Amino acid sequence: MSEGRIAVIGAGTMGSQIAQQIALHGYSVSLYDERSEQLARALERNRGHLQRRVEKGTLAPLEFDIALARVEPFDALPAAIEGCSLVIEAIVEDLGAKQSLFQQLDSLAGADVLLATNTSSMTVTQIASILPGRARTIALHFFNPVLVMQLVEIAPAPFTQAGMVPRAVEFVTSIDRTPVVLDKEIEGLLANRIIAAIRREAFWLVDQGYATPEAIDQAIELGLRHPMGPFKLADFNGLDIVLAIQQRRFERTGDELDRPPQRLRDLVDQGNLGRKTGAGFYDYDVSQERGR
Ligand code: NAI
Repeated sequence: MSEGRIAVIGAGTMGSQIAQQIALHGYSVSLYDERSEQLARALERNRGHLQRRVEKGTLAPLEFDIALARVEPFDALPAAIEGCSLVIEAIVEDLGAKQSLFQQLDSLAGADVLLATNTSSMTVTQIASILPGRARTIALHFFNPVLVMQLVEIAPAPFTQAGMVPRAVEFVTSIDRTPVVLDKEIEGLLANRIIAAIRREAFWLVDQGYATPEAIDQAIELGLRHPMGPFKLADFNGLDIVLAIQQRRFERTGDELDRPPQRLRDLVDQGNLGRKTGAGFYDYDVSQERGR
C-alpha cells in the first residue's frame, strides 16, 4: 500500500466501486455522499458485486467480510476526510459543484493530502486553479465498471507539483489497476476523446448516406477488432446521454463536425434511447434483456 486511509467523495456509479476496488487492496476507505440514501445503496450494491465473486470462487468468504467492512460510510465531509492521505472526488459532473467541493477539501485537508478528481469532461485547471493548495490536485480517471476495467488515466494540471504524478501512479498500481499518464491535461482525457472522434465520424458517414449503422459497426468490429461498433456502443451507453455529451461539446467548440446528427436527435425525440428502452440504432428484446 502506498497511501494511508483514502476518502472517496460521491457514492454513485463510480464512487461506490472506486471505494470497493481500493478496499479490496487493503486500504481503509471513508465514503461520503451528501445524500445518505446513496451511501446505503452503494454499500448494498458492493455487497452484491462481491457476493458474486464469492459464488464464483474468486473471493474467499473471509476476504468478502473484510473488504466490505473496510468501506466506512460518512454523512459529514470533515469527518470523512479526517486522517486520510488521499481524497478522490466522484460527485456529479457539474463544474460549480466540483469547484465548491474542492474549496472545502482544500481548506479541510492537511497540506500533504493529495486531492484527485474523477471528472470525465473537465480539467483540473477548471476545477482547482484558484485554490491556495492547487499544487496537490490531479485527475485520476477511472472507467466504468471500476471493479472490472483495468485502466486509470492520470492527468496533472500545469500547476500540479511534479511529485504528485509518481505518487498517483504508485497508488493506482497498488490497487491492481494500470495507470496511463498524460503529459498535459485535456478535457475528456484520452480514451473518451478517441471514442468520441470515432463516434463523430461514424455519425457523419451515416448522416451523409455513405453507409448504415450496421455496416459501420461491422467494419469497426471485424476490421479494427473493437468489441462493439460505435452505434452498438451508443445504444449501450444510452442515446440521451450520448446526445447530451455531444450537444455540450458542440456548444463549446461550434465545430459543425460536433453538431449532433439529426438521426440521433430523432431517435431521442421518439424515446428510443438504446438498450434501456428496447430500441435505438438497433432493436432489442427488452424482456430478454431484463431476464438476464
Ligand atoms: P452519479 O450520479 O452516479 O453519482 C454522483 C454522486 O455524487 C451522487 O450519489 C450524488 O448524491 C453525489 N453528490 C453530488 N454532489 C455532491 C456533493 N457536493 N458532495 C457529495 N456528494 C455529492 O455519477 P457517476 O456516474 O458516479 O459520476 C461521478 C463522476 O465520475 C463524474 O465526474 C463523472 O463524469 C465521472 N465519471 C463517470 C463515469 C461513468 O461511466 N458514469 C466514467 C468515468 C468518470
